[in-house]
Amino acid sequence: MLALKGLILSGGKGTRLRPITHTSAKQLVPVANKPVLFYGIEAMAQAGIDEVGIIIAPETGDEIRAAAGDGSAFGVRLTYIVQGEPLGLAHAVLTAEPFLGDCPFVMYLGDNLLQGGIEGLVSAFRAGAPDALILLTPVPDPEQYGVAELRDGAVVRLVEKPSRPQSDLALVGVYMFTPAVHAAARAIEPSGRGELEITDAIQHLVDEGRRVEPHIVKGWWKDTGRLQDMLAANRLVLDTIESRVEGELVDSQVDGRVVIEAGARLRRTTVRGPAIIGAGARLSDCYVGPYTAIGAGCTIQNAEVEHSILLAGAQVHDLLGRMESSLLGRNVKIGRDARQPRAYRFLVGDNSEIGIL
Ligand code: DAU
Repeated sequence: MLALKGLILSGGKGTRLRPITHTSAKQLVPVANKPVLFYGIEAMAQAGIDEVGIIIAPETGDEIRAAAGDGSAFGVRLTYIVQGEPLGLAHAVLTAEPFLGDCPFVMYLGDNLLQGGIEGLVSAFRAGAPDALILLTPVPDPEQYGVAELRDGAVVRLVEKPSRPQSDLALVGVYMFTPAVHAAARAIEPSGRGELEITDAIQHLVDEGRRVEPHIVKGWWKDTGRLQDMLAANRLVLDTIESRVEGELVDSQVDGRVVIEAGARLRRTTVRGPAIIGAGARLSDCYVGPYTAIGAGCTIQNAEVEHSILLAGAQVHDLLGRMESSLLGRNVKIGRDARQPRAYRFLVGDNSEIGIL
């Protein structure tokens, strides 16, 4: 078999994570202080795939190039492929065809996180040599995903976001394909949402009598498209970190698994892990509770934060209640001041959400 290539889909619109994605690619939102996209690139590298194409959108592509570079930091070679419009996952495959050529490939959705990497799946793909290999996992809300119906262990039907799902098996955003998928992607029509669906292209392979092998995912999997999923992914990854304190602690205390990056400074602060505090962050008179990721250069004073993600440069000060289950974008400022009249004062972008206690 030819060497496997990798294809990571990092284009698209990111509408469900607005307002964060008004200004930044959803694949760069950090999980445990690392962009979601990097987990996919690392999974490729770990599985020995060194030629990786990244699909980017014209609007957010530059930011993704700047973050991931030429791939040398990950031990892979990255080729950026611009998809002019987000016309669907199968359209992205066709856009990448000149890069992929006749190679079999692993396709990884850039906003997905899969525990345990893809090495085992790559071996299964090589060993069984099917035309395509798909990953499935039971979910409570299958109507949000591509859904597979199996009979006697074989794939019989795949439907994208069905209103009445016939099974609870969701398609996970990691797929393995032979070049047969290109003709299938060309054969299908756009779906109701106007996209060329990879789900339909795989159904086409099934209809042609090609071998589509299903694998049930054993570990956890997250599509980080929504806030709750982002927080869940952050919890799952933070649960696996190892303690490391490189920043400075003054009259402060850390309990449990906690990473404090170099250059961070904590004064009169308690951090209860699992949690990570980014480089150069300044915390004073704070409590940081479990499942919190504080980005680089954040400032928190006289406040309590738990089960939250703060992007780089966010500032929080003088809150009377604990902030929780929150996602703050870059350089967001939240605070209380003594100014009269006592009032709420907001400067908030489109599609923001604020909950007041
Ligand atoms: O997460 C798993 C689900 O991913 C599957 O169960 C579905 O069958 C599959 O269609 C997909 O559904 P989503 O609606 O969640 O896909 P989304 O639009 O979020 O796109 C997934 C990734 O691909 C994301 O990183 C953006 C990127 N993308 C998306 C489109 C539509 C592109 O690069 N180009 C595109 O044209």
